Amino acid sequence: MMENAVKRIGVLTSGGDAPGMNAAIRGVVRACLYRGIECVGIRRGYNGLISGDILRMDANSVSHIINRGGTILYSARSPRFKTEEGMQDAIKACKDRGIEGLVVIGGDGSFRGARDLSLRGIPCVAIPGTIDNDIGCCDYTIGYDTAMNTIMQMVDRIRDTAESHDRCAVVEVMGRGAGYLALSAGIACGATSILIPEVPYDFERDVIERMKRTQKSNKVHFVILVSEAIGGVEDMAKRIQSETGVEARATILGHVQRGGSPTAKDRIVASQMGYHAVQLLKEGIGNRVVAMQKEKILDFDIFEALTMKNSVDLDMYKMNLDISI
Ligand code: ADP
Ligand code: F6P
Repeated sequence: MMENAVKRIGVLTSGGDAPGMNAAIRGVVRACLYRGIECVGIRRGYNGLISGDILRMDANSVSHIINRGGTILYSARSPRFKTEEGMQDAIKACKDRGIEGLVVIGGDGSFRGARDLSLRGIPCVAIPGTIDNDIGCCDYTIGYDTAMNTIMQMVDRIRDTAESHDRCAVVEVMGRGAGYLALSAGIACGATSILIPEVPYDFERDVIERMKRTQKSNKVHFVILVSEAIGGVEDMAKRIQSETGVEARATILGHVQRGGSPTAKDRIVASQMGYHAVQLLKEGIGNRVVAMQKEKILDFDIFEALTMKNSVDLDMYKMNLDISI
C-alpha cells in the first residue's frame, strides 16, 4: 500500500446543516482509521478551528450516527473566519494540532473557506452537504433527498386537510436561491403550479388561470408550491381566494425541512463522499471538491468547482405544466 501523505486529518461541518452530514463524518472517520490515519473532529465549523474546539475521533465516536439527522460536530457560520486574522488563527490551530489535511462538509460558502485554507498551505477537500442541491459541479448534494421526501410528506398532510375543506394550500419551501426542492417536491405532490426563481412567472396566467381551468373539471382543492426565493405566500393566498373563490391557506414549512433521519440515498452518497475525500488527502491531494455526476463519485479543483453552474431541469418543469391540470 502507498505510504500516507498525511498523518492526521480533521473533519468539520459548516453552514446550514443537512441530513446525512453524520453519515459523511462517519465515512471520513472510518476511512481514516482503515488507512492508519488519525482523525480529529472540529466542532462548530470554522469557529471550532479558530477556538481549538477539537477532539480525537475513534471508531466508536461515530457508532450509531449514520441514521441521525443534524451533525454530531455541530455547525456554525463564522464571520471571524472570513477575516485575515481569523484565517491565521485557523491555520495556527491546524499547525499546532498536527492537522495536515481537512475535510470540510458544507455548501459553497464553506468551500470558499476550504479554498482559502488550501491556498495557505492546509490541504482541504470539500464535500457538498446542503439540502438546497445548489452546488454547480454536482448533480447531487447530501441532504437533498431527505429534504425532498420530508416536504412531500408534509405537503401530503396539508393536502389531506385542504381536500376536506375544498381549499387551496399555498406552501413555501426552502432552497435559498434555487428551485430544485420546490420543483421536485412539487412534481411528487402533484402541485397545480410550482413557482421557482429559474422560471419567470405571471401569477394570473400561471396560478389563477390554471386553477380556473382545473375548476371546470370539478377540481375543488389545490396545492401551489412556492420557492422561498419567490416568497410572499400569504399575499398569494389572499389573491387566490379573492380571484377564484377558493378558500386559501398559506404555510411556510421552515426548518422541519432540514431535520430528520437521512434517507438511504443520503446515507450512501455521504459514505461514498467521505471515503473518497480521505483517499484524496491520503495521496496528498488538496483543494478538491468531491462531487457526484451521473451517479459516479469524482472530484474537481475547488476554484473550478466554484465557477461551475447547473440549473433545474426545465423539461421537468414543462412536464408538470402538462400533467398537473
Ligand atoms: P454554506 O457553506 O452552507 O454555503 P455559508 O455561506 O454560511 O454556508 O458559509 C459557511 C462559512 O464558510 C461562513 O460562515 C464562513 O466562515 C465561511 N465562508 C463563507 N464564504 C467565505 C469566503 N468567501 N471566504 C472564506 N470563508 C468563507
Ligand atoms: O442552505 C440551507 C438553508 O436551509 C436554505 O434552504 C435556507 O435559505 C437557509 O439555509 C436558512 O438558513 P438559517 O438556518 O440560517 O435560517
